[in-house]
Amino acid sequence: MAKIAIMGASGTIGKNVAFTLAKEDSIDEIVLFARESSYEKITGEVLDMYDALAAEDMDCILTPTCSYEDLEGCEVVLISSGIPRKEGMSRLQLAIPNAKIVSEYSQAIAKHAPDSIILIVTNPVDVMTTIALKMSGFDKNRVIGLGNHLDSLRLKIILAQYFQINSGEINTRVIGEHGDHMVPLLSYTTIGGVLLHNFVKSIPLDIDEVVKRLRSAGNTIISKKGATEYGPSYAVSNLIKTIVNDSRKILTVSTYLEGEVEGVYDVSLGVPAILCKNGIKSIVPLKMDEDEKKQFLDAARAVKKCTYLVRE
Ligand code: LAC
Repeated sequence: MAKIAIMGASGTIGKNVAFTLAKEDSIDEIVLFARESSYEKITGEVLDMYDALAAEDMDCILTPTCSYEDLEGCEVVLISSGIPRKEGMSRLQLAIPNAKIVSEYSQAIAKHAPDSIILIVTNPVDVMTTIALKMSGFDKNRVIGLGNHLDSLRLKIILAQYFQINSGEINTRVIGEHGDHMVPLLSYTTIGGVLLHNFVKSIPLDIDEVVKRLRSAGNTIISKKGATEYGPSYAVSNLIKTIVNDSRKILTVSTYLEGEVEGVYDVSLGVPAILCKNGIKSIVPLKMDEDEKKQFLDAARAVKKCTYLVRE
């Protein structure tokens, strides 16, 4: 049975993750941390969630709090607070104000839940992953950014809808930055086990158009409803379930790289990784084609530049 915490629980993603995970058998307590100004709201959310849980005969403990002491004993702490991305705003423009929050929370987690795994959704998530790593002092396997798992789900649904195939038949990965420099690994993408490049010989596909839709997927949602909600919430819930259940699934997450991808050092980016109880068990070795490699190195340059600016 696991205790987890969500820092930023009054936000859309934080509360959705709390409600999704409250229904998991393997999680028996969720700490919903918020600033004092949001405490009333969070207690209301908790009362409302309990009513819904009763309909499912579930009895997960939900603890609303403003106190870091309640983080004690948590296996996973999610940081989802921060200024949200507005329409047309690049994730990198959020970096400086959000780094302050992530930095404060990471130090608090290191003090009060020193054995936990830190998960980050706050954007720009790849930059925030490095900030959380440095400020917590944790080993890098225990500091993980959501990033490209969500982009990979988006590419999966775009392809499934295009080909009118069950999304479970699509196996694909997006790596690199969770942002403008994301790298769709088309050379790895399979449909029912058949390589995408072979599949499109019989059913043609405008790959450039698919990549364009993928890159603008988050912005398209933000332009229509003001924020993304279910996608990131389910994606991060997947990561937390995989960790607490020790499921060893391979999910694409942001992690601090030190040469695991040739030529890439001192920057956090999305790569496929095996996730377990201890966080990242190992990074899956990648063999990219020339174009993908170039795009990945571009992502590394852009994210590293931003991370250095923020850390100055
Ligand atoms: C998105 C936000 C979470 O892409 O970055 O939906």
